[in-house]
Amino acid sequence: MQRDSAGSGDDCGGNSPDFKSAVAAALLPRPECWPLRSALARERAHSPLALHLPAHRRGQAPAFRRPRLPWAWDLPELPTIGGPLLVDGAVAESQALIAQAQGVDFSWYGVNGASGLLQAAVLALAGPSARVLLPRHHHRSLLHAAVLAGFNPLLYTVPFDAAAGLWQPLPPQQLEQLLQQAGPVDLLVLLSPTYQGLASDLPSLVAIAHRHGVPVLVDEAHGAHFGFDPTLPKAATAAGADLVVQSLHKSLGALAQTAVLHAQGPRVDRDHLCQALEWVQSSSPSALLMLSAEQSIAQRYTSGGQRQLRRCLHQARALRDVLQAHGIPLLTSDDPLRLVLHTAPLGCSGAQADAWLMARDVVAECPEVFSLTFCLGLGNSQRLQRPLLQTLQTLRRAFGEVPLQPLQPPPLPALCEPELSPGAAWRSPSRQVPLAQAHGCLAARPVCPYPPGIPLLLPGERLDAERLAWLAQQRLLWGEQIADTVTVLA
Ligand SMILES: Cc1ncc(COP(=O)(O)O)c(C=O)c1O
Repeated sequence: MQRDSAGSGDDCGGNSPDFKSAVAAALLPRPECWPLRSALARERAHSPLALHLPAHRRGQAPAFRRPRLPWAWDLPELPTIGGPLLVDGAVAESQALIAQAQGVDFSWYGVNGASGLLQAAVLALAGPSARVLLPRHHHRSLLHAAVLAGFNPLLYTVPFDAAAGLWQPLPPQQLEQLLQQAGPVDLLVLLSPTYQGLASDLPSLVAIAHRHGVPVLVDEAHGAHFGFDPTLPKAATAAGADLVVQSLHKSLGALAQTAVLHAQGPRVDRDHLCQALEWVQSSSPSALLMLSAEQSIAQRYTSGGQRQLRRCLHQARALRDVLQAHGIPLLTSDDPLRLVLHTAPLGCSGAQADAWLMARDVVAECPEVFSLTFCLGLGNSQRLQRPLLQTLQTLRRAFGEVPLQPLQPPPLPALCEPELSPGAAWRSPSRQVPLAQAHGCLAARPVCPYPPGIPLLLPGERLDAERLAWLAQQRLLWGEQIADTVTVLA
């Protein structure tokens, strides 16, 4: 009977789409048992040592105790509220206040992370034929910006510390040489600070670029708190950068996905920026996210906010001193709120240390080949001293302290262009081949462990023997984060 009605195409039958979806709906769990709600509730119930982003450290930072952020604050772009690209309304007023406080011409909130704002900033200045100087250790959102805009980036390589396995700040004299070598350039992108908190000499770098007539975009995703305490590096806006993107959940207390873009000076066009923001931002920006963005910045300008930052910096420095006094190897950072464990002397990669710690309820933020970064954020770091020290001492014993061999530096020229633009390569027909068989092929997809989200290989780059040997070495240290195959042009 059922078979007949199904065969005759009767929609009321047991196999009809309506019936199937009614059965599926009846079997659904109650809303509080859905996977995300359950997983978040479990995370809330058990409290690991949370040393990861967002910087509010699971709501510990006082910035958001008042106002609490209920869903009732999640309002649309009502006339009184407006949005980031509207000239009237509270959001416009709030952005103007921030621009004034930061000493820039314009500021815009972003609700798609620093990623979205970096892409808007690049798209505003760079079309398909643009010459954009991009640091080799850029965040993947900038690779995606090159794909969206259609240009082929000029990739420059910064110094690499083989013992730490980390990219270092760009020295000003190297920028001078790069600009002479590169010829005409439409945009220079700088990254400062790095995930590990290494800051560049931005005043000198920006001055050199401007002398060459080149506008500068600084990816300051990890440095929104810079400039708010005299012991921290100078902020990119104060260094004169034309465009600055800050991620507000990485170092201020805002909710994930919040960011701000600052613009100043005659080299950037406000209309172009607004247009590009419209291309890549949501048409329904969340008032809740923008409120958390506003409050996280506003709080920094209060005496209470400054005291809080001073306290966090003080506690973070004390924690570093205690760990170092007990022989835990830490790498230097310009940001005390980033604690960078040097794992190579302990005999393990950052990924191995991360997995070991995670199994013991210590959640770090960013594994790299030879290091593991903890984000201390705005929570209380004094309470971390004993448990973190004990766990790291046990980790040290567990891995036996047989130091890992220093890394090969990446076999990359100081300045180069992929053979094919990343966008063209990404869109080409492709195939997967084992790494060992990719010699001579052009990459069609990036190789990009996340975090930190820094591509080791870009679409459009050719895989020569040296690059393959280097990727194979990286694979040993990144573990499953790097596949044993690579996608190349068919
Ligand atoms: C250097 C850098 N820039 C930009 C981003 C993107 O930030 P968001 O996660 O806010 O999009 C990241 C994220 O990790 C980053 O490390």
